[in-house]
Amino acid sequence: MRLLDGKETSQQLRNEIAEEVEKFVAKDNRPPHLAAILVGNNGASVTYINAKIKACEEVGFASTLIRLSDTISQAELINEVKKLNADESIDGFIVQLPLPDQIREDKVIMAIDPKKDVDGFHPQNLGRMALNMHAFVPATPAGIVELLDRYNIETGGKHCVVLGRSHIVGLPMSILMSRNAYPGNSTVTICHSHTRNLPDIVRSADIIIAAVGRPKFVTGDMVKDGVVVVDVGITRVVDTSKKSGYRLVGDVDFDTVSPKAAFITPVPGGVGPMTIASLLKNTMIAARRRGV
Ligand code: GUN
Repeated sequence: MRLLDGKETSQQLRNEIAEEVEKFVAKDNRPPHLAAILVGNNGASVTYINAKIKACEEVGFASTLIRLSDTISQAELINEVKKLNADESIDGFIVQLPLPDQIREDKVIMAIDPKKDVDGFHPQNLGRMALNMHAFVPATPAGIVELLDRYNIETGGKHCVVLGRSHIVGLPMSILMSRNAYPGNSTVTICHSHTRNLPDIVRSADIIIAAVGRPKFVTGDMVKDGVVVVDVGITRVVDTSKKSGYRLVGDVDFDTVSPKAAFITPVPGGVGPMTIASLLKNTMIAARRRGV
């Protein structure tokens, strides 16, 4: 078994981006600028946003964090989005999800200028991605593809089982793995809450992408020898022995699955850091397109 080390790979990627920023700025461009809107105080969202802002600083990006009350209305939030669309000092921005119940996420996403949608959530970007056109690819799937690429994982003709059909991971991941590209050219099965015989399907997988948000959902008896496993799960489970009071648990039971796997991502230190690096990469692309 070999680890797909997202921490180390994301550091390489971030070093490459930092070099690119240096060259970009040396040509009299202002640094790439990412803005993030955070609504409310959801613990996980605060952690992710802080990590994203810190990553910006490390590669030489400018960043702006906009914190809004969780009582904000949908119209007010969309107004904030429109301000960022119009702000020429900002290359790309994200609205951290989930949003409070009074706000429809799709309405907010639709208000984002696709050229600044570095999360790749706007239908225009998802549609373009599906058609293999230039597009911002959502950061988590983009990070997974980058990880598979950097470890030279064979994907052509393989059976890839994606667990979960969320708009931000499962759905785009299934498209990326099936499109005519590398990584890609896999035969993809998406499993979800209505899937029958799920363990049998997972047992036939050469590559498993687990993104269901259920701790230790995939167990050793559900996988075949030599499988490649990507664990997107990051559920917080109470753990009083930790300073934070919780630990992060993936969708895969690492102890029983890893002995059978050829490659597997750890949690933490697998997909998470790759997501952040991919967001930076998308923002760099947005900055390069400035004025185009
Ligand atoms: N919530 C969980 N993952 C993400 C992400 O990649 N982007 C945003 N905006 N919100 C998220």
